[in-house]
Amino acid sequence: MTDSNLAATVHHSGGSYPVVAGWGILDDLGERLVDVGVRGAAYIITDENVMNPYGRRVQRSLQEAGIPAHCFIIPAGESSKSFELAQAIYHWLAERRAERGHTIISVPTSMAAMVDASIGGKVAINLPMAKNLVGAFYQPKGVFADAAALSTLGKRELAEGWAEAIKHGFILDAELVDVFEEHAEALMDVDPEISAEVIRRSMAIKAEVVSQDERETLGIRILLNYGHTIGHALESSTEYGRFLHGEGVSVGMMGQPAWLPRWA
Ligand code: GLY
Repeated sequence: MTDSNLAATVHHSGGSYPVVAGWGILDDLGERLVDVGVRGAAYIITDENVMNPYGRRVQRSLQEAGIPAHCFIIPAGESSKSFELAQAIYHWLAERRAERGHTIISVPTSMAAMVDASIGGKVAINLPMAKNLVGAFYQPKGVFADAAALSTLGKRELAEGWAEAIKHGFILDAELVDVFEEHAEALMDVDPEISAEVIRRSMAIKAEVVSQDERETLGIRILLNYGHTIGHALESSTEYGRFLHGEGVSVGMMGQPAWLPRWA
């Protein structure tokens, strides 16, 4: 499939994968997954807010493309990033007889997930002492984001999500910050063309950084943690219940000079 929605390709030690964003691409997901080599069963893991509007469509699209797809629904929110829930997911997968060659699918429907969390393979759970304290680098087969999913978000969720995209501008692309200033209203109204374009541009920055420093050992990927030292402290000290992630990062960026990033 030729893809005008391709934002970037991530290159990593084990190969490469496409990063794609467009408007309304969710219904093509099955075909796109076949294109990146997905075979056998797939397991969609998503939260209760995302399942009904998007999870079922993803399941249908996969099944139409010949991929048997099963769904596991988790509670929405940061508190689901726990040992207990990870264990419940492993049990469910074992009961389903999931195999190494099968595929797990999670659906990025927030801005932060689209431009940041879905790209680069960081997977982790939280401990009470700190966010993302136990995890791994595990690169996906592809990242596919449907910008139309943003149109069901409230203004607070939208604003927090744009924080991660603006962060990419602050650290590596000053012109992207100008684009945000110029199109602030259209972005908050989730204008289809501008939103998808800005998401692709922001994704491309993340993809480039990850391609250069996959495991955050070269002092490049750590740039992406701009604002996160204070942001994570705010989130964990309030038990992940008060600040949305992007809100913490926004406060963190105000309190931390851009030339002094810390850890995520
Ligand atoms: N969210 C920061 C990173 O992926 O490195």
